[in-house]
Amino acid sequence: MNNIKDHENLNYKTVLLRLDLNVPLKNGIITDETRINKIIPTLDLLIKKNTKILIVSHVGRPNGKVNKDLSLKSICESLEKKIKIKIKLLNKDIFKIKKNDLFKEPEDKIIFLENIRFYIEEERNELNFSKHLASFADLFVNDAFSCSHRSHASLCKITEFLPSFAGLQLEAEINALKKVTTEIKKPVTCIIGGSKISTKIGIIKNLIPRFDNIIFVGGMANNILSYKGNSIGKSIYEKNCYNLIKEIFDSSKNQLCEITYPKDVLVGKNMDDNATIKDLKDIKNDDLILDVGPKTLKKIQSIIECSRTVLWNGPAGYFENPNFAKGSFEIAKTIIKKNKNNSIYSVVGGGDTVAVINQLNAIEDFNFVSTAGGAFLEYLEGKELPGIKALS
Ligand code: 3PG
Repeated sequence: MNNIKDHENLNYKTVLLRLDLNVPLKNGIITDETRINKIIPTLDLLIKKNTKILIVSHVGRPNGKVNKDLSLKSICESLEKKIKIKIKLLNKDIFKIKKNDLFKEPEDKIIFLENIRFYIEEERNELNFSKHLASFADLFVNDAFSCSHRSHASLCKITEFLPSFAGLQLEAEINALKKVTTEIKKPVTCIIGGSKISTKIGIIKNLIPRFDNIIFVGGMANNILSYKGNSIGKSIYEKNCYNLIKEIFDSSKNQLCEITYPKDVLVGKNMDDNATIKDLKDIKNDDLILDVGPKTLKKIQSIIECSRTVLWNGPAGYFENPNFAKGSFEIAKTIIKKNKNNSIYSVVGGGDTVAVINQLNAIEDFNFVSTAGGAFLEYLEGKELPGIKALS
């Protein structure tokens, strides 16, 4: 995979830059700009190298139809403010655009095409559409790791028509993920939360042979507690996952991976309640488990203390209520402390976990914070991502 930073002669070339600016929008207003901030280094590099930049991105799932609510307008404006360079947003039907229509004025340095998913051909990875897109540029850069698990035209097929390169952010993401999958410094620990064990079973199975510890927290841990015969009151859990959990315990025994799950918990009667510490045997039918308890937290912290690599995906509890945020915040702080003296390599991923870290204003205190959702999970499952394969 070639990286665009190593390209020696980019002067005045037109670069088709695929970004993932699929940011959360509420009434047209961006509620989290992390994905926009992360691609600025690639833009800076391309600007410094005197290229003309044609940005292609999607937002949301318009299913091949024009949808004004899913316009890239506010994203384009946000980026414009950040880099202080005028950006043109082209609304024109892509099929009617020709290369000569673009970058006509000397001040045209960056052009945005409208949401690429307004075209059904994008998700179909359609050949003629890709060829037409490719005709606008001299080379292609994928800096959209977070949608590289999709076999779409502007990520995959286009690479058949243009010299293709990885962007800085995409390379950084892969390098960080390699450090928790193939180039690991041991001992290595995964802290995994979320509510559905079935959606993460692929990852867990892939990590057990390589990891020393897997710590189950959040809703995920409720399934384990129930499997082990504990009452979990009215806490969330996933039905019919007995066999999946059995598989996890069987394989961890064979692979010498220690599985940790809560020994005590914080409960409430509803999500807005105050927290009560309980041992597992004391959980009542109307209790909701909403965080790990102090004994469990201590155990998790001691495992982190002994680890040289940590992967964290999924908060420890319902951190949206401050009464149940302690588990997640203390896990974050323990990692941050080790990070500050360079004694751990830390990778964090998943929207909720990133939200925990944002609340602590600590994005910079982890080695890598992934903004990718599905792509992050599929990579950890050991799957080959089509957008990455296409680059190599
Ligand atoms: C994401 O937000 O994970 C990517 O932009 C991919 O979006 P999708 O799940 O709609 O393909």
